[in-house]
Amino acid sequence: MSAKHLLSIDDLDRDGIERILDRAASFAEVADREIKKVPALRGRTIVNLFYEASTRTSSSFELAAKRLSADVVSIRASSSSVTKGESLKDTIQTLSAYDPAAIVIRSPHAGAAGLVAGWTDAAVVNAGDGKHEHPTQALLDVFALRERLGSLDGVRIWIVGDVLHSRVARSDILAFTRMGAHVTVSGPPTLIPRGIEALGCNVEPTLDRLPEADVVYVLRMQQERMSEAYVPSLREYAMRYQIDRDRLQPHQVLMHPGPVNRGVELSADVIDSPQALIVQQVEAGVVVRMAVLYELLAGAAGKPRPEGQLPEHERARGSLVGAGVIR
Ligand code: NCD
Repeated sequence: MSAKHLLSIDDLDRDGIERILDRAASFAEVADREIKKVPALRGRTIVNLFYEASTRTSSSFELAAKRLSADVVSIRASSSSVTKGESLKDTIQTLSAYDPAAIVIRSPHAGAAGLVAGWTDAAVVNAGDGKHEHPTQALLDVFALRERLGSLDGVRIWIVGDVLHSRVARSDILAFTRMGAHVTVSGPPTLIPRGIEALGCNVEPTLDRLPEADVVYVLRMQQERMSEAYVPSLREYAMRYQIDRDRLQPHQVLMHPGPVNRGVELSADVIDSPQALIVQQVEAGVVVRMAVLYELLAGAAGKPRPEGQLPEHERARGSLVGAGVIR
């Protein structure tokens, strides 16, 4: 990764994405071992700062940092404590006193991770900022898809549902198209942001042409971000857009970032079908986040050290290469 932070998929070109995925694949070998830890970030501190509910993202970032042997501080705060940008800044300044190598931040405010990057010397990883972006989710989605399909080149991916409020959709459109896929977004017109085509996707207001898709990526209805009624009712939404046995074709791969509203955007039978990649997406979360932290802190973008002084993580890297853990 050439940039110091991971704030958006726009920070990465195709080579950068592939580099992270290849690194993640080497960490997947470690995940299969009984002892799942490597010494790459020993002695370095990672702060996870979550101002929004999270199960998968926060647990996998914590596990990723621990498996790299970093010291981890995980802080959960309610969004009400950060209603003003100033208080977030104070928090970052306080935490920066611990000299963290990285700060992982989830916030309900679009652009929060970018602000944090301006207030700290640490590498900043965006773990979801409002409805803006969620780059590590997109990377793990590409990783899980690549494992299933081999390549995304020419693959037709439909992203279905509440695109308007979805940071996952925005990051996925960028990552999937960068990896050579053709992306179509579909959902009720009230939930498709105007001008979304500028990200490189097509828009289909109905599911009539859904059978043409190779991959159906379903989004959660983000009711916590809806200040008004965007659909007449969830029942009505489900009738028109729920992915169920009738709508999902046997050749299609099914994805969802979780958490799923069972019976709303997905029917129970497709969630548990072998076509679903949902569990593999969660599994990919740990190794992909290990790879992101590794690339930012120990890879080419890691902090420069004085000449002749081999940093701890480079020694660790040497032993990892020697042990065949990483390439
Ligand atoms: C997503 C998120 O938080 O944006 N979840 C996740 O990170 N696994 C999607 C969602 O909440 O719907």
